Amino acid sequence: MALFGRRKALLGLDVGSASVKVVELTRSGQGLFISGMGSAPIESPDAVGETIQKLLKESGIKTRRCVSSVSGRSVIIRQVPMAQVPDADLRQAIEYEADKYIPFDVNEVQLDAQRIDFGPSGEGQATATAGQIKVLLVAVKRSLIEEHIALLQSVGLSPAIVDVDVFALGNAFELRNLSLGINDNEVRTLVDIGASKTNINILRGNHSLFQREIYVAGNDITDAIAKRFGEDPKDVERMKKDPGGALESMQDAMLPILEDIGNEIRLSFDYFENQFDQQVKEVFMSGGTAYFPGVDTMFTQIFNLPTKIWDPTEGLEIRGGHTAGLGGANSDLAIALGLASRLRNF
Ligand SMILES: Nc1ncnc2c1ncn2[C@@H]1O[C@H](COP(=O)(O)OP(=O)(O)OP(=O)(O)O)[C@@H](O)[C@H]1O
Ligand SMILES: [Mg+2]
Repeated sequence: MALFGRRKALLGLDVGSASVKVVELTRSGQGLFISGMGSAPIESPDAVGETIQKLLKESGIKTRRCVSSVSGRSVIIRQVPMAQVPDADLRQAIEYEADKYIPFDVNEVQLDAQRIDFGPSGEGQATATAGQIKVLLVAVKRSLIEEHIALLQSVGLSPAIVDVDVFALGNAFELRNLSLGINDNEVRTLVDIGASKTNINILRGNHSLFQREIYVAGNDITDAIAKRFGEDPKDVERMKKDPGGALESMQDAMLPILEDIGNEIRLSFDYFENQFDQQVKEVFMSGGTAYFPGVDTMFTQIFNLPTKIWDPTEGLEIRGGHTAGLGGANSDLAIALGLASRLRNF
C-alpha cells in the first residue's frame, strides 16, 4: 500500500487568547482535504481545556495527534547573519552566538535554527556579505512550551510539534497557493489580527521572508469602542459581532487603532523593501478581527495597497465537521490550518 507508514490525518490546534480554533486535515490519494474544523470562544481562562474538548467533539475530529503553537513575548524570532557553515553544524554554531540575540537566559530557551531559503530568485542574499548566510533563529522559553504541552496532554491530545503562530500563518498561505496553483514571485503580506496580538508575515511567492508579532489587536479595538460609547467591553464584544446601526460610529472609533497597527506594519514593509529591493503588492488579512465589516476597505486606504480578507480553506475540499458560529470566510482558522498543513511533511 502506497500510504503504508504515513500518517493519514493531523489536527492543527490554535489556542488563542480569545478563542480555540481546530482544523483536521486528512490525506487522500489526490492530496489533503479538511475532515473537520471549527472555532469556539474561551469563556474564562480556566475553561481552555474544556473548550478544546467540546470543540473537538462538535467538529467530529477524531485525530489525537496534533500540531499546536505558541506565541507572545516569550517567543523570539531573529534573522542572524552567519558565516557559511554546513547545515548539519548550524544548530551548534547558532547556540554559540545565541545569547547575543536573546533577551533571556540561553539555558531557559528551546532553540531552533534554519538557513533562510530565499526562493528561486535568490534576491536578498545580496544584503549579506559574501561568504555569509542568513539564519532564522527561533528561541522559545522552555516553560511556555512545557505549560502548553501539559495543557494538550490534559485533554488527551498527543502533540507532535509545537510550532509558532506566525510561521503557521505563512504555511497556511503556502498551502493555499499550492492548492490554487499559484506559483509566482509576487510579494504579499499576511496580517492576522487576533485579540491580543497581530502577526505579520511577508512572503515572496511561497517563501516566507519576514515575520513579526505586534501587541496591538482586537482587544484594543474593543477598548477604544467601549471608551467612545461608554459601554462595558463585554457588551462591545457582542456589538462587534452584530454592529447593526452602530457600524459607522464603531468603524470611526476603531480607526485610530487600525492606524496604529498600520504604522507598525508599514515599518515592516520598509525593512523588507530595503532588504529585498522588492515592493509589497498586496495584503491578505485573517484572524477574528477580519470579520468586522469594512476592515479590508479601511486597511486598503491606510496602506494604499489592495487589502483583502482571505479564506484559508479556499482550494481545499471540506468533507465534514463544520461547526456553526464561523464567519463565512473562515478567516480565524488560518493559523490552525497552517498547523495542520504539517501533514504534508509526515
Ligand atoms: N464576527 C466578528 N466580528 C467582529 N469581530 C470579531 C468577530 N469574531 C471575532 N472578532 C474579534 O476578533 C478577535 C478574536 O480573534 P481571534 O479569534 O483570531 O483571536 P485569538 O486567536 O483568540 O487571539 P490571539 O491570537 O491574539 O491570542 C476579538 O477581538 C474579537 O472581538
Ligand atoms: Mg490567534
